[in-house]
Amino acid sequence: MLNSLRSRDMAYHFHSQTNPRRHEGDGPLVIAKGEGCYVVDELGNRYLEGMGGLWCASLGFENERLAEVAATQMKTLATYHTFNHRSNNPCVDVVEQVAELSPIPGSKVFLVNSGSEANDTMVKLAWYYNLARGKPSKRKIISRKGAFHGSTVMGAALGGLPHMHKSFNLPGLNVVFAEKPHFYKNGLPGETEEAYCDRLIADLESLIAAEGADTIAAMIAEPIMGAGGVVSPPAGYFPRVREILTRNDILLLSDEVVCGFGRSGNWFGCDTFGFVPDMMSIAKGLSSGYVPIAAAVIGDHVYQTVADEADRIGVFGHGFTYSGHPVTAAVAAEVLRTYREMDVPGRARELGARLFERLEAAIGNHPLVGEIRGAGFLAGIELVADRSARTPFDPALKVGALVERRCRAHGVMIRNMGDVISICPPFVMTMSQVDELVTGIAAALDDVTGEMAK
Ligand SMILES: Cc1ncc(COP(=O)(O)O)c(C=O)c1O
Repeated sequence: MLNSLRSRDMAYHFHSQTNPRRHEGDGPLVIAKGEGCYVVDELGNRYLEGMGGLWCASLGFENERLAEVAATQMKTLATYHTFNHRSNNPCVDVVEQVAELSPIPGSKVFLVNSGSEANDTMVKLAWYYNLARGKPSKRKIISRKGAFHGSTVMGAALGGLPHMHKSFNLPGLNVVFAEKPHFYKNGLPGETEEAYCDRLIADLESLIAAEGADTIAAMIAEPIMGAGGVVSPPAGYFPRVREILTRNDILLLSDEVVCGFGRSGNWFGCDTFGFVPDMMSIAKGLSSGYVPIAAAVIGDHVYQTVADEADRIGVFGHGFTYSGHPVTAAVAAEVLRTYREMDVPGRARELGARLFERLEAAIGNHPLVGEIRGAGFLAGIELVADRSARTPFDPALKVGALVERRCRAHGVMIRNMGDVISICPPFVMTMSQVDELVTGIAAALDDVTGEMAK
């Protein structure tokens, strides 16, 4: 008899990024409602959400203004499409606002439904652009080890996380991997950050020379790698990458799915790290995660070539039924208005300053903590077995997962990616909620230290 939400979920729901066999035994954590920056489970337990769900909920988990916009749009025009020259009012509103905020000159906005689709779209556009310029051999895409770019076939192929490749038997999609720019883990003993950056740049140049620039269409990169462990590049990395790619006629695609819309303390991660991409993908924060909407934002030089070629053929043969859906577009447009009123980049800097100050004070010298890093209101905590030698834990100990579980016991939701704890909270948090988040994390670390000493 399937008489509870949990048992019905266990019977019928094949979950994303979950161990299915473990789920059959453990079942789900059922979230029943949102209250500002908190979520409440079906048993009434409240959690302060330190991850915005999945790097998404910049405006928290309930918002009357957005609920009203969605309901009004549902009553006005509940659905329509944007194929064959059709448009609608909210769709125009959202693309105009994105283009105004975008750092890419002459931005054109191609609406899709997810970050994976946005990245797929950028890659297809890079191929289309090069073919139209008479360079069909420029097909390879450079990604980076540890990158996460989504779960569609191309998104997963671009990803540098082994569990997204192994077992799926993905076909070769011409993706080559550059090094993960992670000084803390990959810097050599005695190497300065500057020398490390020089080494990364030399590696990239060698990779391009070995593959042949005439075979490479684009490089994709997250300004701060999210799922790869909240990794910021060494100072000066991106401007130098930009210069190399321009010199080799290779497009630079910025995956702004996590970093976009204020997260790193500026509107986009590329603003924070000092580069202008040729295209960028946006998702998550675009709607505060409230509805599925995303986009590829395209520079004028790429657009003009693509538009000429599509005109010659008669149509640009790409797009989705729900691209520019009026309800998702209306919500995203209102989210962007709200962000602009709040000045989310400034808010991220203020909240982030408090978060990093409190983390340093509470756990900066904790025996389990190797590094606290991040930018804006986005943080990662590297857990290590030995702080001075930077020795990682044996992955079999699953220390990150233990900390995540203890955080929940203390009423705080974070995420562990292996032994890195990530923090990506809503921008509507109060300063005292930031303190509450840090207190919960510190208590969880103490619990795990105690358990390990037994
Ligand atoms: C950097 C990055 N790119 C792309 C994606 C894929 O987005 P989606 O799950 O909406 O397809 C994610 C999702 O977490 C992400 O973190």
